[in-house]
Amino acid sequence: MSPPGEKLNSEKTDYRTAVAPDFARRYLDTYFTGIDADEKVICTFLAEEYAKLRGSPDMIDIGCGPCIQHVLSSVPYVKSIQLADYLEDNLDELRKWAQEQGGAFDWNHFTEFILQLETADSSSVEITARESALRGKITHIRQANVLNESVLGEDRQFGAVGFFYCAEAATRTKPEWRKAVSNVARLVEPGGRMFMASCRNTDFYTVEIPGLPEEKIPTANVDENDFKSLLPDIGFSLNDSRIEVVNVGMGADHGVEDIILLSLLKKGEPINTEVAAHSAHDIVNRTS
Ligand SMILES: C[S@@+](CC[C@H](N)C(=O)[O-])C[C@H]1O[C@@H](n2cnc3c(N)ncnc32)[C@H](O)[C@@H]1O
Repeated sequence: MSPPGEKLNSEKTDYRTAVAPDFARRYLDTYFTGIDADEKVICTFLAEEYAKLRGSPDMIDIGCGPCIQHVLSSVPYVKSIQLADYLEDNLDELRKWAQEQGGAFDWNHFTEFILQLETADSSSVEITARESALRGKITHIRQANVLNESVLGEDRQFGAVGFFYCAEAATRTKPEWRKAVSNVARLVEPGGRMFMASCRNTDFYTVEIPGLPEEKIPTANVDENDFKSLLPDIGFSLNDSRIEVVNVGMGADHGVEDIILLSLLKKGEPINTEVAAHSAHDIVNRTS
């Protein structure tokens, strides 16, 4: 079995060689200094879908990049959180944030937005409290390679797996994309959930390079039908899943015009039967 950090085969999109240097900071500056339309849609979807988690499972975000916005709203519903990506550059940014080091990216505006979605108090005290609660739940910031059958290099499953904008970014062809999604699907426990966002019908997305034309990073070109034909074969129940296509209108020239949102239930009996940390009352309020 190859270790997760092993260099990728050259015909694949190897982020260590295929993207320009300083990806983490450029990605943050391109997409996260404000809250773009796609992120508003994803965060709203996740706030609703995380509330369906039962038993306070362990969570992992695979291909998380230098980002924490997609796990911020999982905090009330999960026991622990792991952040995993292929690029060391991204992991360094995450460590800076987790350890509250100088120069760490400021996610306060996202935390405020997420608390507002929860109709919770979004004062600066509560923003700090949510971010501290997230830091307290992060157990690992680690390397992963979605093109390896063993994505983490260890046999481990999670009740909640996040996988946002990564499968299509890490691959160029549909066979590679199917393999990446299948590899990550194996990390989901029976009865567990996988949460995804994907660019739709595009061959690339863009990341800015200061002083130069923006970088076009190649992607596998997929749509919702590719998901629907793959998911039952890799253990997910389409009947119990939510799949939505949303036009976020950020421009086909950036590769983020339409996106696909997925909250997927893996077939089988849940392993983790621990009583959820949140009350039934809380769940009703959050989903109504
Ligand atoms: C478009 S970014 C998405 C980042 C974040 N999940 C988000 O939603 O903004 C794609 C991410 O996939 C990661 N990636 C690329 N190839 C990968 C691989 N083989 N295994 C794991 N992650 C990979 C990149 O390092 C990058 O962080």
